[in-house]
Order: sequence, then C-alpha cells, then structure tokens
Amino acid sequence: MADFVRRRVRVASLSVLVAVTVLFMAACGSGDEEDYAASQTHDEHDSAPAAVVAGEHSETGLEGKKLFAANCTQCHGENAMGTNQGPPLVHVIYEPGHHGNASFVIAVARGVRAHHWDFGNMPAIPELSIDEINQVICYVRELQLANEIIDEIPAATRC
Ligand code: HEC
Repeated sequence: MADFVRRRVRVASLSVLVAVTVLFMAACGSGDEEDYAASQTHDEHDSAPAAVVAGEHSETGLEGKKLFAANCTQCHGENAMGTNQGPPLVHVIYEPGHHGNASFVIAVARGVRAHHWDFGNMPAIPELSIDEINQVICYVRELQLANEIIDEIPAATRC
C-alpha cells in the first residue's frame, strides 16, 4: 500500500515536471513578431491592437511609408505595429494629444531615452531632413486614422 502511494506521488511529480517544461518551452518559443503582436494585447498597455490595418495613404503618406520602411520598421514594425525592438506607434500613447508632431521631430533628431517601455533607447536618425520627417509623421497619422486611434488628421500635419 505504502509503495503504491509512493509510486503515485512519483508519477504525479513527473507529470508536473512535464507540464512545467512544456509551458517553459512555449514561453521561450514565442520569439517571432506574430506572437509578439498577440502578446501586446495582454500587456499593461492594453490598447495596442493585435493587428494593424494598412489603410489608405496620400501621396505624402506614401513617401513617408518608404522612409518609414527604410528607417523605422526594424523597431516599430510593419504598419508601425511594434516589434520586440520597439513599441507600436499605432497606439493611443502616440496620438497627437500625447505625442504631437514635435515629439516625432525631436525623437528622430535626438533619439529617445526609454521612458514608456522596456525596449531600451531609440537612437537618433540624423540622416532624415525635416521634410522627410514630416512625410513619416503623415504616414503614421494616416495609420492611426485607419486604425481609429484618431478620427481626423490633425491640422498641424501636412499630408
Ligand atoms: C533601433 C530601434 C528604433 C528605431 C530604428 C526607431 N525607433 Fe522610435 N523608438 C524606439 C524605442 C525603443 C522607443 C520607445 C522609448 C520609450 O519611450 O521607452 C521609440 C520611441 C519613438 C517615439 C516616441 C517619442 C517620445 O517622445 O516618447 C517616436 C515618435 C518614434 N520612436 C518615432 C520613430 C521614427 C519616426 C523612426 C524612424 C525614422 C524611429 N522611431 C526609429 C526605437 C526605435
């Protein structure tokens, strides 16, 4: 009888070990961007959409899109939906009332010290001219509009 109980205990702890191992592997395996985007809906900044609509773009926005792809997508992601290197810009934190156009200009010109998130600092990207930064801002605002973060392009943004 005692033996039987001991065996039951051993079997039970073995299955706990297996369960923990499986959970651990699942947690570590979630390195790709799709899983990252999905996890965004569960973090404390809970308003990041799981997927972002690409939306319609003006001519200026399309220029901005090219510049964004070359300079920003590596961290801020496809359609500015975020990666494991940087936050989504299609997010209420970055709507014009919180982060106006000037904060974009300053972020690109001087870089950003990490303060909202745990991704680390953003480096300055001094190659972009002010006209180019404005094209990028137009693109991001159009994405925010398409994803209902804002309901109109702010007057200060020239698209
Ligand atoms: C190497 C990664 C990286 C690149 C490239 C990058 N960013 Fe960032 N960016 C970040 C990180 C990380 C943050 C968040 C810092 C924080 O608040 O914790 C950030 C924050 C920002 C912010 C918010 C600034 C603020 O005042 O809080 C803006 C706007 C921004 N980025 C725009 C851009 C644009 C536009 C580009 C391309 C021209 C770009 N970023 C390229 C990593 C990057």
